[in-house]
Amino acid sequence: MAIFYSSFYSRIGTTSLLLIFTFQLFMLIYHVGAVNLNQNFDITWGGGRGKITGDVLTLSLDKISGSGFQSKNEYLFGRIDMQLKLVPGNSAGTVTAYYLSSQGPTHDEIDFEFLGNSTGEPYTLHTNIYTQGKGEREQQFRMWFDPTSNFHNYSILWTPQTIVFLVDETPVREFKNMESIGVPFPKHQRMRLYSSLWNADQWATQGGLVKTDWTQAPFTASYRNFNVKGGFLSQLDSTRNQKLNWVRKNHMIYNYCTDTKRFPHGFPPECAITGSG
Ligand SMILES: *[C@@H]1O[C@H](CO)[C@@H](O)[C@H](O)[C@H]1NC(C)=O
Ligand SMILES: *[C@@H]1O[C@H](CO)[C@@H](O)[C@H](O)[C@H]1NC(C)=O
Repeated sequence: MAIFYSSFYSRIGTTSLLLIFTFQLFMLIYHVGAVNLNQNFDITWGGGRGKITGDVLTLSLDKISGSGFQSKNEYLFGRIDMQLKLVPGNSAGTVTAYYLSSQGPTHDEIDFEFLGNSTGEPYTLHTNIYTQGKGEREQQFRMWFDPTSNFHNYSILWTPQTIVFLVDETPVREFKNMESIGVPFPKHQRMRLYSSLWNADQWATQGGLVKTDWTQAPFTASYRNFNVKGGFLSQLDSTRNQKLNWVRKNHMIYNYCTDTKRFPHGFPPECAITGSG
């Protein structure tokens, strides 16, 4: 009897602890969205070059400085959505970064970076994932629209099972939890959302050949409709998977998992999992 009760109560104990934990996690990430930019973000640098005007936040860059903002909250899993309109015209040399990151030398990071280009030439969407301070998982894409003429939705879906980068609901990249084959997955550190607009003309456009044209400054990128929700999708449904394959086939321009120059002695283990690397 005693044994029965103690194991019964310890089971109840574990279950309710789990429930409480799940609930707290849910409350932490459920800072329901479409909330005022001022409530969600701090402009952290740029000496007045970052501004919130009504429902739009703008970052700008000139010869003296770029600018940036960060979320007041930290998140552990969830779905982050924001609409961005990138620097129009001659944006060569500029980089607009939009990413989740924790802090410290063993930080985790989920990156969207938009590399500008000369007028009429395509932007590059650069993505990367860091776990415990280690990145080197770059994939790059071209957008199938002009990202400077209108706002488009860029989302990060982050669950314990997977990370999905979405552009207007189309998944462009999925990084599954592959801990079972020894690939670390970001799931222990809370992350903040950061964004910045800065000059990277040493490398950003055509590998650094095309420099920033300062006569075009200030360069401005705009943001609106920030939204965070808890969302626990464990895998992509088949429609999304088809879209992901479409992007990989038609719009991916770089994949570290096929870069033999960089990995002459074999690719990282996640590259063996189709669609994940
Ligand atoms: C972005 O998301 C919003 C809200 O879900 C939607 O109304 C809008 O049509 C989307 N924009 C694009 C370009 O898909
Ligand atoms: C800029 O345009 C050139 C020419 O179309 C292209 O090769 C390059 O990948 C584009 N993007 C960047 C970031 O250089």
